[in-house]
Amino acid sequence: MSKTSNILVDSMGRNHNYLRISLTEKCNLRCTYCMPEQGVPLTPSAQLMTADEIYQIAKIFVRHGVTKIRLTGGEPLVRKDFKEIVEKLATLGTSMALTTNAVLIDRFLPTLKAASIQKINVSLDTLRSERFQKITLKATFEAVQQNIDRLLQEGFELKLNVVLLKGVNDDEIIDFIKLTKSKPLSVRFIEFMPFDGNRWDRSRTVSLEEILACATEVFTTDEIHRLENVPNDTSKNFSIRGYQGDFGVISTVTNPFCDSCNRLRLTANGRLRNCLFSEQESDLLTAYRNGQPIDPIIQKAVRLKFALRAGLDTPQKFEDPAHHRKNRSMITIGG
Ligand code: GTP
Ligand code: 5AD
Ligand code: SF4
Repeated sequence: MSKTSNILVDSMGRNHNYLRISLTEKCNLRCTYCMPEQGVPLTPSAQLMTADEIYQIAKIFVRHGVTKIRLTGGEPLVRKDFKEIVEKLATLGTSMALTTNAVLIDRFLPTLKAASIQKINVSLDTLRSERFQKITLKATFEAVQQNIDRLLQEGFELKLNVVLLKGVNDDEIIDFIKLTKSKPLSVRFIEFMPFDGNRWDRSRTVSLEEILACATEVFTTDEIHRLENVPNDTSKNFSIRGYQGDFGVISTVTNPFCDSCNRLRLTANGRLRNCLFSEQESDLLTAYRNGQPIDPIIQKAVRLKFALRAGLDTPQKFEDPAHHRKNRSMITIGG
């Protein structure tokens, strides 16, 4: 195996150099758009990747050219051996990032710094305490707010992920944009996406077009500045003239960005998903435990990747509930 091998390049020429690893299916919040009301059947812990298996499997991806690893969940910080996992992965020399709800992050700042994890994406759908409790079913808003300020003070590069739900939090679009006036962070509005058990309906999704229309009601077109796209970015980005931060929209539903996709996902139970919406998974962990090479399995999964949203390439297919049930719930994919 060498860095020059191209098993991570798919039939469209997309090079998958970004691996998202879900560390756990558990979360300390209960957002209904992510976690089905009845919960998810948790995989027995013996079938989850251990810290060493995460490291060994990630190492194989890195040998093939992965340069960025993002840790996700569930909530990655609830994993008891989070520190050990991060310390091991840090030795692989990739850039590392974390997606978290930030409830527990103050306990891990030295760990993150030691591993040079500088980029943190925090999921936060509201700036109002009572609403936070309604959305997440937990009363940890103040902790999250304090932790966001702490992360900024400590110099972390911060993005806030805001899943917009019509009639729930879409009246906060301007408040979130205004937050970027004094805070050097990126707000990313996310179009609500369909997954098993999350009662998705197109009418509950707030689209890129609607978000921009809302912004132009308050800011002039001169004030709203379109930012250049960063390669492989999931969001279309903007800033308000004179503001310290910026904002963007992740528009998977209305304007997918699959042509520049460089992502593969490894679930907590060691399955490889070639797309967020993929119906198929490849079992890397069982093969690894049986001492079989996982490289051919990775190669096959990459080769089979569809051009767009796992083949859900029209609004009709994407909106068909039969497909939603086939897709794992988001809490077990990790975004
Ligand atoms: P950066 O590395 O900062 O660009 O973050 P990211 O957008 O890759 O990751 P994050 O975990 O913050 O994800 C934010 C939102 O983008 C989540 O709702 C994800 O589901 C969505 N997202 C991330 N990667 C992809 C992707 O490859 N395809 C689609 N459709 N959505 C994605
Ligand atoms: N649609 C869009 N984004 C979602 N996330 C979780 N569920 C959904 C959904 N149904 C987001 C979380 C987190 C990221 C990893 O995925 O808010 O920020
Ligand atoms: Fe990549 Fe699938 Fe997301 Fe498209 S929907 S960007 S192919 S992960």
